[in-house]
Amino acid sequence: MMAGNWKMYKTSAETSSFFEKFRGLVANAEHCEILICPPFPDLPAAASAAQGTRIGIGAQDLFWAKEGAYTGEVSAGMIRNAGCTHVIVGHSERRQYFGETNETVRKKTVAAIETGLTPIVCVGEMLEHREASQTEAVILDHCEGAMSGLTAEQFAKIIVAYEPVWAIGTGKTATPEIAADAHRVIREYARKTFGAGAAGALRILYGGSVKPDNVRGLMAQPEIDGALVGGASLDPVSFASIVNF
Ligand code: PGA
Repeated sequence: MMAGNWKMYKTSAETSSFFEKFRGLVANAEHCEILICPPFPDLPAAASAAQGTRIGIGAQDLFWAKEGAYTGEVSAGMIRNAGCTHVIVGHSERRQYFGETNETVRKKTVAAIETGLTPIVCVGEMLEHREASQTEAVILDHCEGAMSGLTAEQFAKIIVAYEPVWAIGTGKTATPEIAADAHRVIREYARKTFGAGAAGALRILYGGSVKPDNVRGLMAQPEIDGALVGGASLDPVSFASIVNF
């Protein structure tokens, strides 16, 4: 899967013009799933522009309640109703700036699954963790905190994204080897907790400064099942060249 996370960029009009170009550029890409995750207000424009294509639409966050007095929040049902199939959960920017914790990530993950959305659950260490040799401990804490409460059936429905925080938006991509090592930690966690079958079937995406010129090296690692792309997904030509690597 090649997924684009637009973060807080693009209006609905800009969304429509992205799709006008992007659709044709990825029309022959059948080797992977393609996903675009725009800001909430752009979801209907994106879903309508993606109709009749293989491009899926995802949201960047959700709230776990079905409805209620939760000013500013958006439920899984609303996201689905807007035409989404996927939702990003626990992105490091949400953990850093908006108080997201393993507990809220778990609740959001369950709400997404129960509503028929595929959650893309993000995990990953900060630079200080890596420098203190705590990378593995942090990845395991994110996995255990957010995923251990899931049933095997629920776990089978999630996608995990490994996103080292020091590589996000910095231009510093993890080397393919560093990324693959982290993916192995996640897969081993999945094996111990949910069994070999679940671990083998789990898709793990890498995210953090994925660009057209480094995507091939990353995808050459058998451990890496796709990419979650921020900055380089905003331009149709650049994201299409990542999809068509
Ligand atoms: P980036 O963002 O590709 O701009 O580093 C990745 C992400 O945050 O998902």
